[in-house]
Amino acid sequence: MQLSGQPVLILPEGTQRIVGRDAQRINITVAKAVANAVRSTLGPKGMDKMLVDDLGDIVVTNDGATILDEMNVEHPAAKMMVEVAKTQDKEVGDGTTTAVVVGGELLAKAEELLDKKIHPTLIIKGYRMAAGKAISLLNELAMDIDVNDEETLRKLAITSMTGKGVEEAREKLADIVVKAVKQVAENDEKMIVDTDYIKIEKKQGGDLADTELVNGIIIDKERVHPGMPKVVENAKIALINAPIEVKETETDAEIRITSPDQLQAFLDQEEKMLRDMVEKVKASGANVVFCQKGIDDLAQHFLAKEGILAVRRVKKSDMEKLAKATGATIVTSIKDLSDKDLGFAGKVEEKKIAGENMIFVENCKEPKAVTILVRGGTEHVVDEAERALNDAIGVVASTLKDGKIVAGGGAIEVALAMKLRDYAKTVGGREQLAIEAFASALEIIPTTLAESAGMDPIDTLVELRAKQEKEKNPYLGIDVFNAKISNMKDASVLEPMSVKKQAISSASEAAEMILRIDDIIAASKKSSESKGMPGGEGMGEFE
Ligand SMILES: Nc1ncnc2c1ncn2[C@@H]1O[C@H](COP(=O)(O)OP(=O)(O)O)[C@@H](O)[C@H]1O
Ligand SMILES: [Mg+2]
Repeated sequence: MQLSGQPVLILPEGTQRIVGRDAQRINITVAKAVANAVRSTLGPKGMDKMLVDDLGDIVVTNDGATILDEMNVEHPAAKMMVEVAKTQDKEVGDGTTTAVVVGGELLAKAEELLDKKIHPTLIIKGYRMAAGKAISLLNELAMDIDVNDEETLRKLAITSMTGKGVEEAREKLADIVVKAVKQVAENDEKMIVDTDYIKIEKKQGGDLADTELVNGIIIDKERVHPGMPKVVENAKIALINAPIEVKETETDAEIRITSPDQLQAFLDQEEKMLRDMVEKVKASGANVVFCQKGIDDLAQHFLAKEGILAVRRVKKSDMEKLAKATGATIVTSIKDLSDKDLGFAGKVEEKKIAGENMIFVENCKEPKAVTILVRGGTEHVVDEAERALNDAIGVVASTLKDGKIVAGGGAIEVALAMKLRDYAKTVGGREQLAIEAFASALEIIPTTLAESAGMDPIDTLVELRAKQEKEKNPYLGIDVFNAKISNMKDASVLEPMSVKKQAISSASEAAEMILRIDDIIAASKKSSESKGMPGGEGMGEFE
């Protein structure tokens, strides 16, 4: 900007600014790079990534959301892609790689259109139309499932865990997941599943196949006093969110004690208060106490003498789960504790798992919170198993919510793409090109699956489209284990419709948002290194 020879500065010095096509190109390149980073992990034949953080801690995973999270991307466009994975993970628990890969491909196809001088707003409009259409087509193509059809629910869980390093135990894990989700589901006209109430407790050691479902909650703590019982049958459980201690004086009050009698009286008084608290607990009928706060040594001794099993400093989230599982109410004052507040468990037991004591609150009656105790040879195995379980839990929970599923292995994407192309023709104009681009972007899923199975991606896609068309069979997809096209429904490769729906909507929203940007204004960083500068350093790690 030159005004009579004087440059006019409207932004502070050091600000970096990139406008127009350059801005678009950079953002698209970055987003594609992010998608590329996770693409090779897609599907059962996908590879794993080893991520090493700055402290040298290692994570080996196949999970899109985890990879992107650990990568710590800096570029704003990259962060938008990471958001796609996070939303997907939060909303439906699975399909994170799919969402990011489709998002990247939508931008790759948009770039081709931009090169043909199609204006971004037209591309955005076409993508909008295509996404809306794709979602209504999904509803038409989806199959209904009965919430009591556990066999199918297990198949969905297995599909989500295939290729996740839990291979040998996936049947058993699928069974556990279905039982767990059904246990915590509340049927209130519609099925409501709060997956927070499925606690995953990991303990390295043993074998994946030793993973078990506990009908109740496991607390990673031990009883406070060795004199307390290790096992309590027919447990009546008190949940107390108050210290079983004599309160320290809040202000710095000084108590002057001038004679031994006074000291004794003082100590007696303290003892009496603790004894009263324990009396109160006993009077309620409780034989197990979970305390969110501390328990005084003397109170521990009294509780032990009464044969009450007590645990202290239990996490708030665990207290809530205990309440859900046992039916107890959390009380905030011991004075108010009564038998009505108590919960029930068939058995509370301290068990030694891999050398550490844990409290098992099990055999609860119709618990609305359960625990999956994950076992496995190494830390990496249990961590990856936890991620696989989370995917499977998400999948079963979201299927219960809407009762709709689709065929995986790229089948649904190819079916959608074909129908979108038909739709594009009815729209015409330049939007048609954008809708067709959207359709092709979805086909990145079958293409990638084919590639991972060692098949020729282009030939396979062409053949798959032709077969679906000829046989009028939207269930045909890529059988990655036999490297051929087969019926995914018959092969039990099933996925929830909601996973695909969420992937399509968040991928297209992110792509649209990135396409709409034609100006990147980055404030100068105070720090010496200009990390995260658009188009600057920090992008190399994706290449
Ligand atoms: N046995 C199978 N045969 C073919 N494709 C499968 C099979 N199991 C899963 N898939 C496909 O793998 C893809 C999911 O891969 P995954 O690595 O879990 O990524 P995401 O993070 O997107 O869930 C889906 O398209 C799904 O249909
Ligand atoms: Mg998955």
